[in-house]
Amino acid sequence: MAKYYGIIAAAGIGERFGSNKPKQYEKLGNQTILELSIGCLLACDAIEQIIVVLRPDDLYWQELAIANHPKIQTTIGGKNRSDSVINGLMALMSQALPDDFVFIHDAARPFVPKHDIITLLEAVKNHDVGGILATPVADTLKYSADGKTIEKTVERNCLYRALTPQCFRYAKLLNALMQLTTPVTDESMALELTGFSPLLIMGDPKNIKITYPGDLQPTRDQTASPIS
Ligand code: C5P
Repeated sequence: MAKYYGIIAAAGIGERFGSNKPKQYEKLGNQTILELSIGCLLACDAIEQIIVVLRPDDLYWQELAIANHPKIQTTIGGKNRSDSVINGLMALMSQALPDDFVFIHDAARPFVPKHDIITLLEAVKNHDVGGILATPVADTLKYSADGKTIEKTVERNCLYRALTPQCFRYAKLLNALMQLTTPVTDESMALELTGFSPLLIMGDPKNIKITYPGDLQPTRDQTASPIS
């Protein structure tokens, strides 16, 4: 039977967030975004081990209590997200078999519900490639080459936002990422470019990637004490 592993991509700078520390180390309540994102994978018992991919100059990881968790190991990331994920996959080389599954999850997605991860696992377990959580695009989409004037409206019926985790067979994902000649923004894209058709599994639209400081605002507002 295939085994399940996790990789948390946490080697980004989070430039758009504009903080003096990487956004994954900002706190939401009493935990960092990174701890909450890792916690989402830890909640799924089927996941045997989690590799957290960190920046080479990371100053904050060792301060976290979760750094000593028995299911967690770390490795160093690369220049692009795909380099970081390759390093994470390499760290699993001695234990993962080609047909085992790897869940790749963004460090900045702390809101994925446990039942979405279970739904993803159940959907891919008999599939020969794997699949991703996604959600239909809700807004009307406009195309603008200059960012100032609208050229056209893009038909949204067949469009989805790609979320994480994304879960793929170990060897297929590693081979796809190693063959890349163009940059990719998620793991599914690497598989699509090498001729595979990953599954699309509907997930919770609240599973956002925290990118800008404003992305934290509704959460902080919701947790603030009501004004009496
Ligand atoms: O930059 P972006 O928001 O697309 O990054 C998505 C995820 O990939 C983040 O969790 C980030 O930490 C991770 N990443 C990485 N290594 C890089 C760049 C991004 O692990 N070189």
